[in-house]
Amino acid sequence: MTQHFIVIGNPIAHSKSPEIHTQFAAQAGIEISYQRQYCPDDAASFTAVIEAFFQGGGVGANVTVPFKQVAYDCCVARGGLSEHAKVAGAVNTLLLNKALLETGTPIAEAIYGDNTDGQGLVNHITSLGWPLKGARVALIGAGGAARGVILPLIEAGISDLTLANRTLSKATNLVNELSAASETIAQQQIKTCSTDELSGTFDIIINATSIGLSGDTLPLSDELSGHYAYDMMYGRALPFLQHFAKRGAQTSDGYGMLIGQAALSFERWTGHTIDVVKVTKTLQAL
Ligand code: ATR
Repeated sequence: MTQHFIVIGNPIAHSKSPEIHTQFAAQAGIEISYQRQYCPDDAASFTAVIEAFFQGGGVGANVTVPFKQVAYDCCVARGGLSEHAKVAGAVNTLLLNKALLETGTPIAEAIYGDNTDGQGLVNHITSLGWPLKGARVALIGAGGAARGVILPLIEAGISDLTLANRTLSKATNLVNELSAASETIAQQQIKTCSTDELSGTFDIIINATSIGLSGDTLPLSDELSGHYAYDMMYGRALPFLQHFAKRGAQTSDGYGMLIGQAALSFERWTGHTIDVVKVTKTLQAL
């Protein structure tokens, strides 16, 4: 029987999720339909769309810009949130809470939210062979993208985390907020600084800012170096990666993170484990 999935966003025409999940389904040997779902940019429309989808027999939905926080609010009031979604303050994966359904809770009240973005990053870095255990990590950015990866990075066993941002107060506020929300994060004692003051040698430097969209470059100190540099953006030349490649670092863009977070959603929904390296090669050859 065909299982139904959607990705909800606005805009949504550019989303690569249907192609990615079609490859996953081929590898898992199951039949799926995965559609792009446009939604007007307001919470009431979003709620109406997801309720109709799940009541109509849908198995799972991905959530993208601008609805990740709306989806979070929606799940708080309904079927609940995973730990990663709670700390990220955002949801990228929706499914039904089976335990609630078994108690007779109506479908619309059992919609549950998870966030696989951060674990997708960790899985990609691991598949690149970059050591995370014991690593000294610098994370640049203090928006939603940075917020979502902090707990998974700490859970992966890094030894040390410095959060840098153009607006320093946003970085310190984020650390205070997350430390209050999670004992694991509080124990890490994350350091903060402004981006231009970030200096020293790190094992891994990660760019979680949206600067790649603008074509601008980050004001990086000459005193900053890293063995590995990762940009969460993909699909274009990234000055951040060029900067560190010139200084001898190994680099990666965020395409594998995109596949990694999608694979975790698929695994959550269907129980099938995906060989991400194999699917990435297939997709890059298309
Ligand atoms: P996202 O959800 O993608 O993280 P966001 O919440 O708008 O998006 O956050 C964007 C991040 O990119 C912020 O850390 C922002 O820095 P500020 O907090 O100082 O605004 C960073 N950013 C965006 N454009 C930038 C630029 N031109 N230079 C430096 N940092 C930039």
